[in-house]
Amino acid sequence: MKWDRAGHVVALKAPVIESRLYRVCCVTDTDHLATVRAVYDATAERYAQVVGSELSEFYERPLDLAFLSAFVELVGVESGLVGDLGCGPGRATAFLSARGLETVGVDPSQAMLSVARQAHHGIRFEEGFLSALPFPDGFLVGAVCWYSIIHTPPDHLGEVFAELGRVLRGGGHLLLAFQAGDGEAVSRDDAYGTGFTLTNYRHSPDYVARTLAAAGLQVSAQTLREPELDHESTPQAFILAVDPDR
Ligand SMILES: C[S@@+](CC[C@H](N)C(=O)[O-])C[C@H]1O[C@@H](n2cnc3c(N)ncnc32)[C@H](O)[C@@H]1O
Repeated sequence: MKWDRAGHVVALKAPVIESRLYRVCCVTDTDHLATVRAVYDATAERYAQVVGSELSEFYERPLDLAFLSAFVELVGVESGLVGDLGCGPGRATAFLSARGLETVGVDPSQAMLSVARQAHHGIRFEEGFLSALPFPDGFLVGAVCWYSIIHTPPDHLGEVFAELGRVLRGGGHLLLAFQAGDGEAVSRDDAYGTGFTLTNYRHSPDYVARTLAAAGLQVSAQTLREPELDHESTPQAFILAVDPDR
């Protein structure tokens, strides 16, 4: 089975993994953080089995990897700690770590963290939300949000980017990847087969860029890649930003 990153089943490919169904209880759409945590707690092992715990050609095109490689070059090895924020099973964390960056993965889902720790020994993984990161001011030299702002409503992006600006050191780099649109919400029942309804936001790249600027982060590159992979129905956006020297 293949999913897109919003939890939609897009193709059935053997082997189909048996699922346990989880039902929505006490979680409402207004509490998007609780929903995100509950969904990814329920699906962490399946997610890692299907999507993998490494970046792969099923989910990343060469251009996508080029953005991550450019990020590595911009940050520079031995410069300090880099966060993969919303790391899931640690796919991008492992990519960055393998290229010499000192890396920490952060995710709100304990189950995801557990899967990431099992898959990537020697890499640090910690619990946290994008809007409440477990780091002091100026602690990171770089941050990657690889398809992790996709469940944050557009009107909450400002607080997320303010938090990213807080934890980034002056001169630190940020890389965002997300499905692009006009900010529309796409809600799916039974996301990842969990029984939960999860909402995915197709953020407008221009809105994201403006919101980054309002948070004091300077956009240095903004690219849209046309949908190419089986599961992609919208262009994919990649935005690099820098926290200007203060
Ligand atoms: C689609 S998955 C992507 C995971 C990983 N980056 C990857 O590419 O495989 C989205 C991940 O972002 C995390 N996430 C979503 N909203 C978040 C938030 N507000 N703060 C931190 N992590 C979040 C989820 O827990 C989940 O692990």
